[in-house]
Amino acid sequence: AFQPRVFSGVQPTGNLHLGNYLGAIVRFVPLQDQMPTIFSIVDMHAITVWQDPAELMKQTREVTAAYLAAGVDPKKSIIFNQSQVKEHAELAWIFNCVARMGWLKRMTQFKDKAGKHAENASVGLFAYPNLMAADILAYRATHVPVGDDQKQHLELTRDIAQKFNNDFADRIKELGLGVPNPEPTHEAPDEIYFPVTEPMITGPATRIMSLRDGNKKMSKSDPSDLSRINLTDDQDTIAKKIKKAKTDPEALPSEVDGLEGRAEADNLVRIYAALANRTKADVLTEFGGQQFSAFKPALSELAVEKLAPMTDEMRRIMDDTASVDAVLRDGAERAAAIAEPVLHDVRRIVGF
Ligand code: ADP
Ligand code: NA
Repeated sequence: AFQPRVFSGVQPTGNLHLGNYLGAIVRFVPLQDQMPTIFSIVDMHAITVWQDPAELMKQTREVTAAYLAAGVDPKKSIIFNQSQVKEHAELAWIFNCVARMGWLKRMTQFKDKAGKHAENASVGLFAYPNLMAADILAYRATHVPVGDDQKQHLELTRDIAQKFNNDFADRIKELGLGVPNPEPTHEAPDEIYFPVTEPMITGPATRIMSLRDGNKKMSKSDPSDLSRINLTDDQDTIAKKIKKAKTDPEALPSEVDGLEGRAEADNLVRIYAALANRTKADVLTEFGGQQFSAFKPALSELAVEKLAPMTDEMRRIMDDTASVDAVLRDGAERAAAIAEPVLHDVRRIVGF
């Protein structure tokens, strides 16, 4: 059977925000005690859109500092930046030749990011999901904790793993590299090389919305959205942004159903729940019937209480560039030690 293993990554593309923290980074921490964990700073993904070279390294260190400050422990987890393990690029090329044009053309993130100027988008931005599949499968990772926006890309990763397993089924068997398929179907071979990865998209914070528009995702890539709570914001800024957050005139409902059709209210309740590590229902039991004028200060206090120690620690870590770089160097060596034998197998399977 496949050894359970977690892989996830965050792009070093500018300000980390509350969505990245609650939807991804903070969820990495408890997983470290459950199975082997690999957390990457995916700088090769970042350059699918233009990045200033000097800024890129700075931002790579910033994401590393966020991981460490949130409690990702380099003794328990492998922490490294993607570009330092060349197997990602090598496997991505092979997956470029496994994935179909039609699969990638359906990806909504490409359509969103390329916008009206798809002809001018980089080829890398289009092929991004193949590199993401390579990130995961270079470690034959079985579990991937991410936000909801990555769901479609993870389905593509599963499709790539399945097509590879099918296309090369005889060869995998012949070379004795197969693992018994945990979910054999009449179409799938009984021995496979890549696991069909499980997405871990759970909890109240898998999709944190913008504080000024409950229908838009809180995102790094919208510089005009000043409502975004950044992990480098100080306490006053966090409080101000929550105070200004868009709401509706009604009180909070006492049951989860009552949040339906109230995207902004739902978002704030989910943020509260995630920060407090409680369920939405539980939060509404406490705050149901109350106005936002009472709920917002409570949320603000909680956000500051939870985020301030983390962001202080993050700033402290960022100042110690040498230690951050040492973590990344050590992580890259440990990551390569897993990915190299996988690529050795893959090269034989493909016929190189
Ligand atoms: P961004 O989408 O902000 O550019 P990344 O693509 O680097 O950031 O995503 C890093 C992680 O943060 C991914 O797991 C992604 O799903 C998650 N994430 C990003 N935005 C949000 C959000 N608004 N709510 C929850 N999770 C998010
Ligand atoms: Na994203």
